[in-house]
Amino acid sequence: MTKTVIVSGSSRGLGATIVKTLAQQGNNVVINYHNSAHAAQKLVDEIGTQQAIAIKADVTKRNEIDTLVQEATEYFGQIDVVINNALVGFKFDPIQQKSFADLSWEDYQQQIEGTLKAAFNLSQSVIPQFIQRQKGEIISIGTNLFQNPVVPYHEYTTAKAGLIGFSRNLAAELGQYGITSNVVSGGLLKTTDASAATTPEVFDLIAQSTPIKQVTTPQDVANMVAYLVSDQSNGITGQNFTIDGGLTMN
Ligand SMILES: NC(=O)c1ccc[n+]([C@@H]2O[C@H](COP(=O)([O-])OP(=O)(O)OC[C@H]3O[C@@H](n4cnc5c(N)ncnc54)[C@H](OP(=O)(O)O)[C@@H]3O)[C@@H](O)[C@H]2O)c1
Repeated sequence: MTKTVIVSGSSRGLGATIVKTLAQQGNNVVINYHNSAHAAQKLVDEIGTQQAIAIKADVTKRNEIDTLVQEATEYFGQIDVVINNALVGFKFDPIQQKSFADLSWEDYQQQIEGTLKAAFNLSQSVIPQFIQRQKGEIISIGTNLFQNPVVPYHEYTTAKAGLIGFSRNLAAELGQYGITSNVVSGGLLKTTDASAATTPEVFDLIAQSTPIKQVTTPQDVANMVAYLVSDQSNGITGQNFTIDGGLTMN
C-alpha cells in the first residue's frame, strides 16, 4: 500500500537515504530541509514530483512544522507516517567533543531542542489527522551510543535517550487509536556529513569490536525504517531497534 511519509531533515545524510529507499518501494515522500534547498530539490528531481515534494522548515519551530504538515497534507491528501530524523547542529567529532567539565547547559539545550522538541513538534502536528483516521506511525531515529557510549557525546546521547522515553509514552497512549511509535537506533554511520569527522581509528575500533566486523551504513538503517513503514510491521510498537551489526546487544 502506498503511504505518504514525512522525513525530517532529509536533504542529506541518513534522511536522504531513507527517502530514496521509501520512494523506491512506492511510497510518497516529503523531503524536509532547512538549509540545503538545492540538495532537497535534486532528490525531488530524482524521485519525481508525483511521489516527492521538498518543504523548508526548521524542526525546532512549531509554526514552521505546522505549515509543513499542512502543505504536505494538501499536496498528497494525507500523511501516514512521520520520521523524526533531523540532526540539528551536531557532528560526531571525537577530537572536538567537549569533556563533561567543559560542556555548558546551552550545549545540552541545543541537542534537547534539536532532538526532543523537534520530535514533539512534528509528532503533535500530525496527531489530529492520525486520530481522525485511527491509523498512523511515528518513527524516531536514535543511537546505539545510548547503550554503549564508545565516544561520550554527552549532550547528543542524553537527548537521544530521552527520545526513547518520548516514543514509548506515545506508543502507550496512542495505541488505542491505531497509532504506533518506535525508535530505530543506528550505530555510527559510514558515512554522512555528521560522521565525516570521525577518525579512521574510531571506525576501525568499531568494526573490530562488532560481531559482523563491519560498521553500519545509512542503507542498513533505512532498510529497517522501510520495514517499519510497511504493513508487515503493523503489530510492532514501543520498541527500540538497534541496527549496529551486533556491537550492542539488548
Ligand atoms: N551519522 C551517524 O553516524 C549517525 C549514527 C546514528 C544515528 N544517527 C542519526 O541519524 C539522523 C540523521 O543524521 P545524519 O548523520 O544524516 O546527519 P547530517 O548528515 O548532519 O544531516 C542532517 C540533516 O538534518 C537537517 N537539519 C539540520 N538542522 C535542521 C533543522 N533545524 N530543521 C530541519 N532539518 C534540519 C539537515 O538539513 P539541511 O542541510 O537542509 O539544513 C540534514 O538534512 C540523526 O537523527 C542522527 O542522530 C546518525
